[in-house]
Amino acid sequence: MTSLAVGVGVVRSSESKIASIQGYIDRAIEDLLASLRNPKELSAEERRGIIARYTAVLEGNFIYWMTGAYLSVRSDEARAKIMDNLREEVRDCHPGMMRRFALAAHAIPTDTDTQAIYRNLMNVRLFIGRLSPVPTVVTMAFFEGFIQRFMPYLAELAQRQGSAEMEYTDVHGVCDITHTQELFRALEAEMALEPPLPEKEVFEGVELLRTLIQNIVVNNAANN
Ligand SMILES: [Fe+2]
Repeated sequence: MTSLAVGVGVVRSSESKIASIQGYIDRAIEDLLASLRNPKELSAEERRGIIARYTAVLEGNFIYWMTGAYLSVRSDEARAKIMDNLREEVRDCHPGMMRRFALAAHAIPTDTDTQAIYRNLMNVRLFIGRLSPVPTVVTMAFFEGFIQRFMPYLAELAQRQGSAEMEYTDVHGVCDITHTQELFRALEAEMALEPPLPEKEVFEGVELLRTLIQNIVVNNAANN
């Protein structure tokens, strides 16, 4: 793919960059999924903790961070895509859906759960606050992609906690596929407006968010 892109013009080179970003994100998601422990081998408290920490991150931050992406981007195309996403989040009350999911699984976040993710969550918040267009959109594409792939696991944890409330995992296992594709198109529009960034900057938010997600799925207190 790289050899094809050499010297064949701006369009092909932008396609190649998008493909390499998508490859990086896909690998990061695969690594996270591979690190998940078998739900059968988790204690009830471990299962509860994962749902609670996930809820502590998602309920109050997803719309906030997507709003950060909206404020950071400059292209009409990216704004329109992100606005569609935000509209759905607000109209269908996704934070409410998240809360019902946690409640039914007896996994409402406690003070200990929120404290466990505090520092890694703060790192992502500060990154989003820089409103840097391309790295923010890359981060949200990773987030959407991960969430969609994580839903069967999250649903299984909740079922094992005795819950039958699966609206959150049903909705996000499907609709976020479209969101991810839309975000990649938004990313292409944003990249056309900026000189290329060093790879480290492009993926800085992905790495911070990856650390936060590891903190959710394995309560690695060493990170805090
Ligand atoms: Fe959502």
